Amino acid sequence: MTALDRRSFLRLSGAAGLAAAMPASSFALPSSEDFTFLFLTDTHLQPELDAAKGCGQCFAKARNIKADFAIQGGDHVFDSLAVSKDRATSLFDLYGKTEQDLGMKLYHTVGNHDCFGVYPASGVSPADPLYGKKMFEERFGRTYYSFEHKGVHFIVLDSIGFTEDRAYEGRVDADQLAWLKADLAAVAPSQPVIVSVHIPLVTAFDSYVPVPEKPPAHHGMSVANAYEVIALFEGHNVLGVLQGHTHINERVEWHGVPYITSGAVCGNWWHGVRMGTPEGYTVVRVESGKLSTHYETYGFKSVDPQNT
Ligand SMILES: [Fe+2]
Repeated sequence: MTALDRRSFLRLSGAAGLAAAMPASSFALPSSEDFTFLFLTDTHLQPELDAAKGCGQCFAKARNIKADFAIQGGDHVFDSLAVSKDRATSLFDLYGKTEQDLGMKLYHTVGNHDCFGVYPASGVSPADPLYGKKMFEERFGRTYYSFEHKGVHFIVLDSIGFTEDRAYEGRVDADQLAWLKADLAAVAPSQPVIVSVHIPLVTAFDSYVPVPEKPPAHHGMSVANAYEVIALFEGHNVLGVLQGHTHINERVEWHGVPYITSGAVCGNWWHGVRMGTPEGYTVVRVESGKLSTHYETYGFKSVDPQNT
């Protein structure tokens, strides 16, 4: 039975109505096949700090896991916000070359550092044809989209908003919210949904770091209008939301949905362990309609460890 057939069947059979009456966390309808995929995030590719070597090492290990595909959670390169076109292009080229080591289908999520020339320090004009997300789109395609895999509806969100002073913040814009609403409207309430997003929708990050002396100019550690996105998940069987950006392994549950932030392939920006989370990636298992994860590291030794 194809995913489309299954969705139609669930609607017709009334399983959707049954599912809607149940809390999201108790769904166990046999509507998806079992499979494994990888969530690799924050590769922060750069020529310095042995980053390409480390990323290659990570991908070479990850490719040995029996996974159907992988999702890159954002920040493919470090950094394209504040650099010239030549530098940004060379970083994306380096990433593209390194990605070959993974050897499996890879879906891409846009990260803040993937946005070209946004900071005025880059010297790049907003009129540049590759400005902002266009360089990313040229390489990887749309910044938000959905796809089906073995009965699971996957949604990849774009959590990067640009501010008037040429910086970024965590935000899902109105056009994307309208798209998400329409996308989910076509998904039966019982069908499993998995979401990928770079900047977390839900995180406890602010609870375990000191309050900064000077408040940041923009809302950067989570999505400022996450409440608008989360509201759209209500009534759906969201198995989990996979997040990047903080480089810290974390799991927060809200309304029965786990918001799972993954440690980074680059760890602490290629300087070692990041607040207890080493360099690595998340292995995601979908089994009997449930999602479980575990974190794998790959033995990278930083040439400049700071171990913060
Ligand atoms: Fe990052």
